[in-house]
Amino acid sequence: MAFQQHQLICFDESGYIARLIDSSEADYASVKQAAANAETLTELRDDQYVLPGFIDLHIHAPQWPNAGLALDRPLNEWLDTYTFPLEAKYRDTDFAKLVYADLVHELLANGTTTALYFGTVHNPANLELAKACIQNGQRGFIGKVAMDNPDQTPEYYRDASAASAVADTEQFIQQLTELNRTTDLKQTPVITPRFVPSCTPESLAGLGDLARKYDLPVQSHASESDWEDGYAREHYHIRDAEVLDRYGLLTDKAVMAHGTMLNETDYQLFADRQTAIAHCPISNVYFGNAVLPVKRVMAHHVKLGLGTDISGGYSPSLYQNIRQAVLSSRQLTDGVDNQLSPINRGVADSAIGLRTAFYLATVGGAESLHLKTGRIAPGYLADLQVVSLSTPIPPDSASAIFEKLMIQTTKHTIDHVFVQGKTVK
Ligand code: GUN
Ligand code: FE
Repeated sequence: MAFQQHQLICFDESGYIARLIDSSEADYASVKQAAANAETLTELRDDQYVLPGFIDLHIHAPQWPNAGLALDRPLNEWLDTYTFPLEAKYRDTDFAKLVYADLVHELLANGTTTALYFGTVHNPANLELAKACIQNGQRGFIGKVAMDNPDQTPEYYRDASAASAVADTEQFIQQLTELNRTTDLKQTPVITPRFVPSCTPESLAGLGDLARKYDLPVQSHASESDWEDGYAREHYHIRDAEVLDRYGLLTDKAVMAHGTMLNETDYQLFADRQTAIAHCPISNVYFGNAVLPVKRVMAHHVKLGLGTDISGGYSPSLYQNIRQAVLSSRQLTDGVDNQLSPINRGVADSAIGLRTAFYLATVGGAESLHLKTGRIAPGYLADLQVVSLSTPIPPDSASAIFEKLMIQTTKHTIDHVFVQGKTVK
């Protein structure tokens, strides 16, 4: 990670970074003047910094009204009590329009330029989410949620059958392909079995076939809790990750949320399949039953990004999740039971720093989605955020500035956001 002062970042017509021009280069002044004349120059103050836009690698768009509420039950009860009743409301497309416009606006304001979204089972509402992304200027990856298992989903909110779950997923792929003809900012459909317990073997198999047929990304949850982990063992007599793999859902374009209960064999499977994990550290405090050992996962060369998991996680900000990723990793290192001796209390050498967490929110997410974003370099998408640092005494090194920015930035100190070269904040 390098820090550059006094550079021009030049965008091309299609929204990519064409050139970085250092102030020592011969045409620095003339290119700057030409941009000023064309009124395309954004000049920064001394207290402003450019960072790559963030990739939220796991978020449930319909759960936005519940963010910060209703976090008092374990995962399976939370779904039944709070989450499914809210998601069922998106059969009303006007309700979807209202929530989705607000959510996309809020995420962009927080520096999130790309998001991998779960929608609901309802395609008209899912299309509203895609339209909100286009209108507000965010790159969305959007999944029609498939959940057809009558044993684990309520009658008022489920797909009527495995066949209709798969058919509606295919319909959404076509609808989004059609909508994309109207925009340069492409929205990507994602194959989205909610998680193993919500689905029947038939829908999992059908969705695996669709992923192969269309070569599209896949998203789901994997071993998020003791309960989810136990469900697969009880019903399939294999591990949760192995169920997903059996149905062709662990691909090199797949992103599985949480993975807090994955074991070493599962990490190896993820690495072999080049499947990514979306680490959602705030949500994991509530529902994960454990801390994802980020360092260990990265040592297995598993792709890893960062997600908010709204509303399992309460914050739409990836800055907050960067901080929590660091905090949780430190608690994992030290352990938390003060009655144990220090050597037995934690998992040694598990702490990560802000740089690693920032890497997950940028490069890690981008690589998980096969996107040229998350870095400020020629050939990468011009997805950027301009943040300001308010401090009476300016930090005296690049790493101190970076640490302050990671710890202090809120949406109120994010001054500009660009997606694919266009100003969206
Ligand atoms: N597992 C299945 N559905 C969900 C959900 O909506 N949120 C979280 N955190 N886990 C899930
Ligand atoms: Fe989730």
